[in-house]
Amino acid sequence: MQQDWDIPPPPDQRVASPAAFNGIVVEGVTRSFGPKKVLDNCDLLIHKGETIVIIGRSGEGKSVLLKHIVRLLEPDAGRIWVEGSEVGTLELDPLMAMRRKFGFLFQGAALFDSMTIAKNIGLALEEHTDWTAAKIRARASECLAQVGLVGAEDKLPSELSGGMKKRAGLARAIVMEPQYILYDEPTTGLDPITSDAINDLIIQLQKDLGVTSIVVTHDMPSAFKIGDRMAMLSRGRIVFTGTVDEVRTTSHPMVRQFIEGRSQGPLGAF
Ligand SMILES: Nc1ncnc2c1ncn2[C@@H]1O[C@H](COP(=O)(O)OP(=O)(O)OP(=O)(O)O)[C@@H](O)[C@H]1O
Ligand SMILES: [Mg+2]
Repeated sequence: MQQDWDIPPPPDQRVASPAAFNGIVVEGVTRSFGPKKVLDNCDLLIHKGETIVIIGRSGEGKSVLLKHIVRLLEPDAGRIWVEGSEVGTLELDPLMAMRRKFGFLFQGAALFDSMTIAKNIGLALEEHTDWTAAKIRARASECLAQVGLVGAEDKLPSELSGGMKKRAGLARAIVMEPQYILYDEPTTGLDPITSDAINDLIIQLQKDLGVTSIVVTHDMPSAFKIGDRMAMLSRGRIVFTGTVDEVRTTSHPMVRQFIEGRSQGPLGAF
């Protein structure tokens, strides 16, 4: 049975002067892999200092969108600005300087299996500073303490549980004192108590470091707990943005279907 869904138009996420915007501007980003158009004229504004949660079904392009922000992937069309710099036009040195503003907790933590946790965490410092090995290790220990992993320095990733790996990934994400942290599914696959501890940690880092956080998740209790604002990605575009309170009360049929976890609705079942 075909049902018509009364879907409101996407929110206006464009600014007249992206180069003057205090935060991140994603404008008209389009990206295909082979015949599949994953991002399709995607617009999104991320304000400095906020925690924005990006929700959307599996395979909609959330990880792809995060990777575009730091130019780990490049768009076929469209542009991205970070604090006024157009990311796609940056030469290598300014690109590296821009990336140093970011911490990235990759989906699955992405630790190097053959390196100890301290080595994994200290890698960026080894590459980007002239710090001594002792100073790098001390900073790694400091970050481990911040994520509640005291004493894990000499362990290998394979010796850690899933939740500990996420925390080690988080320690690595904050080692360079980033202004922005990209979290790709920080709580997926963790038990509810570990998830909540990770959420507390994200909130704590926000308070301690004053970072701007961009969190991809489909864990709705986490999204409501940590987010200031949510944005929903569907069919390659941001179809909704709103504060957490607006998400709770919206009648937007895609958002309602998603947050209520129903198979019936405009997003379809598969
Ligand atoms: N490097 C790549 N090469 C080819 N296809 C890719 C690549 N990266 C992503 N894709 C494709 O882009 C689409 C979106 O992937 P993405 O990982 O962004 O989804 P997602 O929204 O993060 O999903 P999930 O919630 O499962 O993590 C998928 O169809 C995926 O196969
Ligand atoms: Mg993903």
